[in-house]
Amino acid sequence: MKKTIAILLSLLMIICLVACGNSSNQTDNPSAEKHSVENNTTAEAATVSGNADKKETPSASEPQTKITDNSKEQGNKVLVAYFSATNNTEGVAKHIAKVLDADLYEIIPKDSYTSADLNYNDNNSRTTLEMNDPNIRPAISGSVENMEQYDIVFIGYPIWWGQAPRIISTFMESYDFTGKTIVPFCTSSSSGIGSSATNLKGLASGATWLSGQRFSGSDSSDTVMKWVNSLGLDF
Ligand SMILES: Cc1cc2nc3c(=O)[nH]c(=O)nc-3n(C[C@H](O)[C@H](O)[C@H](O)COP(=O)(O)O)c2cc1C
Repeated sequence: MKKTIAILLSLLMIICLVACGNSSNQTDNPSAEKHSVENNTTAEAATVSGNADKKETPSASEPQTKITDNSKEQGNKVLVAYFSATNNTEGVAKHIAKVLDADLYEIIPKDSYTSADLNYNDNNSRTTLEMNDPNIRPAISGSVENMEQYDIVFIGYPIWWGQAPRIISTFMESYDFTGKTIVPFCTSSSSGIGSSATNLKGLASGATWLSGQRFSGSDSSDTVMKWVNSLGLDF
C-alpha cells in the first residue's frame, strides 16, 4: 500500500513539474515581444531626430540629408534699409524686400522732414543747408537689431542735389559693414545715381560695394525684380 502511495505521489510530482515547465515558457514569450517593440521604437525615434545609424536604417539618412540641403538653400541673409521723405524710395524698397523675402528697415529721422524742409528752391531750407555741409549727420530714431546677421544690405535713398541725403551717412557710420555686400539704389526725378553711392563707399570701406541703380518712384515690381536677378548674388 505504501509503495502504491509513493508511486502516486511521484506521478503527481512529475505532472506538476511538466505543468510548471510549460507555464514558465509562456512568460518568456511576452518579454521577447516587448524587446522587439522597444527596438522598433528606438529606430523610429532616431530617424526623426536624424541621429540614427545610417548604415542600419537606410530611411534614417533621409531627414538628415534634407536638413543639410535646407541650410544650404537658405543662402545669404538680406536687409533692405531705406530712407524716404515722400515715399518714392519706400515703394522700391518694399518691392526688393518682397522679391527676396528680406527684412525691411526704414531709416527714420529723429526730426522728420517737413514740406518746408524739403523745399529745394529755398537756399535756407533744412535740406539745402544739410546738403551744403558734408559733415552734417542728422540723427536717426531707432536702430537695426543684430546688423551682424546680414550678409547683403540694400541701401535706398532719394537723390538730393545729386547726392545721398546726409542721414544716409549717419546710417553708414552707425554700423560695421565689414565683410558685407552693399547694394545701393535710389529714386530721383531724373538724375542718375551718379557719384552718390561712390561717395558713400569711404564710410564702409570694409564692405564690397556693387554699382547701384536708379529708379523712378513709379517703377514696377517686375522692373525691380529684373534688376535684383541681374545682380548675380546668392540670395
Ligand atoms: C531737397 C531735394 C533735392 C532734390 N534733388 C534732386 C536732384 O538733384 N535730382 C533729381 O533728379 N531729383 C531730385 N529731387 C527729387 C527726388 O530725388 C525724388 O522726388 C525722389 O524720388 C524722392 O524720393 P522719396 O519720395 O523717397 O523721398 C530732390 C528732392 C528734394 C526734396
